[in-house]
Amino acid sequence: MRDVIVAANWKMNTTPADAGELARTIASRTAEPGVVRVICPPYVSLAAVRDAVVGEGIAVGAQNIHHELAGAYTGEVSAPMLAGLATWVILGHSERRRDAAESDALIGRKLGRAVEAGLRPILCVGEQLVERESGRAQDVVASQLAGALAGHDADTLLAAGIVIAYEPVWAIGTGRTASGADAAAMADAIRATLRSSGWGPRADAVPVLYGGSCTSATIGEFLAEPGIDGALVGGASLKPDEMAGMVARAALTAAARRAAS
Ligand code: PGA
Repeated sequence: MRDVIVAANWKMNTTPADAGELARTIASRTAEPGVVRVICPPYVSLAAVRDAVVGEGIAVGAQNIHHELAGAYTGEVSAPMLAGLATWVILGHSERRRDAAESDALIGRKLGRAVEAGLRPILCVGEQLVERESGRAQDVVASQLAGALAGHDADTLLAAGIVIAYEPVWAIGTGRTASGADAAAMADAIRATLRSSGWGPRADAVPVLYGGSCTSATIGEFLAEPGIDGALVGGASLKPDEMAGMVARAALTAAARRAAS
């Protein structure tokens, strides 16, 4: 049975002074059984969020790591530096692909660093609007996956708890979402790509999240799809009411899966 996950990507929002309070409020409003909750604040707010959610069953994640362990990389943070601060990490977010020119190969190196450091990776993939409109969305995502996963052992990634987040770029921060059916088709395509690249039936154990303008009003459309295991949420994850609604909806899916298993 795959985890049902609601992961909050706070992006470049919150200060250490207000992140703790926001995390505490979210924790108190989202204590639903069976849902894996993750908050990914900016690096400088990791300690505040970690302290705020002690004993709440909420995991803390970083939004990125560097592909090297240490050295002359001004302004960067490596995976081992997150020890004691975070247990998850988002990798290959489209905003980093866009703003930091992250390639699939580089994301693949980061994935290796995450696994070595015991961080649970959320690997983000997703197509641009022109790619979807020209019918190439699944090919683009398959190629992103192949590039990032090349050279990685399926068992190692599974043991690390790898999660794939399907985030169509045109849906991120735009208020426009994919349809549940399109997201489910992509989740199937993602697992088919894994299956045919040596994962075999282990592909079915990988949680796939939807991301892109997800809110409490829309998460149900995605969670109604058996192939989708939750959401990676940006804007709405900064609002406790929204987090409460999304985690409550996710708890229904988690309970239904428990009952069916
Ligand atoms: P959004 O961001 O929910 O604000 O669209 C999602 C993401 O980028 O992870």
